[in-house]
Amino acid sequence: MNDFPLLQNAWYVACRSSQLKRKPLTRTILNTPFVLFRNANGRAAVLIDRCSHRNAALSDGWVRDGCVVCPYHGWQFDEDGICQHVPGLMDERVQKAKNISAYPVIEQDGMVWVYPSHEKTTSQPPRFEFLNEPGYTHFIAEQSMPFALPDVLENFLDATHTHFVHSGLIRSEGKRKTVNITIRREADRVHAEYRDEGTQSGLISRLFGGGVDKSIGRYVFPSTAQLEYGAGSQTKMLITLCFTPETEISQRLYAVVVGRGPAIFKPIIQLLFLRAYQQDRHILELQKKNLQKFEKAQYVYTEADVLLPHILHLLKHGPSPTAPASSRTVKLLL
Ligand code: FES
Ligand SMILES: [Fe+2]
Repeated sequence: MNDFPLLQNAWYVACRSSQLKRKPLTRTILNTPFVLFRNANGRAAVLIDRCSHRNAALSDGWVRDGCVVCPYHGWQFDEDGICQHVPGLMDERVQKAKNISAYPVIEQDGMVWVYPSHEKTTSQPPRFEFLNEPGYTHFIAEQSMPFALPDVLENFLDATHTHFVHSGLIRSEGKRKTVNITIRREADRVHAEYRDEGTQSGLISRLFGGGVDKSIGRYVFPSTAQLEYGAGSQTKMLITLCFTPETEISQRLYAVVVGRGPAIFKPIIQLLFLRAYQQDRHILELQKKNLQKFEKAQYVYTEADVLLPHILHLLKHGPSPTAPASSRTVKLLL
């Protein structure tokens, strides 16, 4: 992506494990179409979604003997992108030009992760904490978000829109309290820790927020946003949004919500989250529509915009492992 070239060298969720069955799947990541399929042993494979012969999409084909078969003339590619068969050819000599690019894949926590870069990597995709721990239940949701990456990351992590966009559901205007927020910057992430808020003024917290004494909004490079609610030393709920950038203006969202407590509440929590998602989507649509009327976006920042400047800096410059961690505190009425 032109604005943030460093996004290329990172892991992204390509699909959920359960979505990758017998048929090849297509996914666009950072403007490049990929084909996903399973080899003969069921291992996930990711190749460029373009046949080397005449550029047909391999995702329009099928899988045979662990290879993806092009629907046009039947060339077959294995998990490493090596062309294993050209139908009709009597002399199938090795010809490198027939091969196509393959990419690192790791399947874990019910997700197929891909590293969409030609650079070699020794890194690993992140894990979803508490996913299968006793006492926790979880659900996973997937949505397409036709907006720019910084906009969706900020929208999820920003507390100050909740009084208006999610009025009554997350917080309410007229019931503000003073909250101390500590912003901590580390090599590949930034946290905003909200203390002293107690239970938030909206319905979700009133129903499920008993005992919560701190919440943390967190951005992790390249495209993960997290909200963590804790009571004492225990995490009560962890909401992780993994955005897979498809293009500059479209993200695929995989949301993993892990909470402490009985599974019986899961349908209610799912419903409340869906409502919050619809409200966010609506305001993002309105913002996008208005932005299209102007040549260029322009932004003003105040102390209340606690995370976006850090998000933009990390998106632009990438993680800085040698920079010392820093922290500062602001006071807001939330
Ligand atoms: S275009 Fe794929 S085999 Fe010809
Ligand atoms: Fe929101």
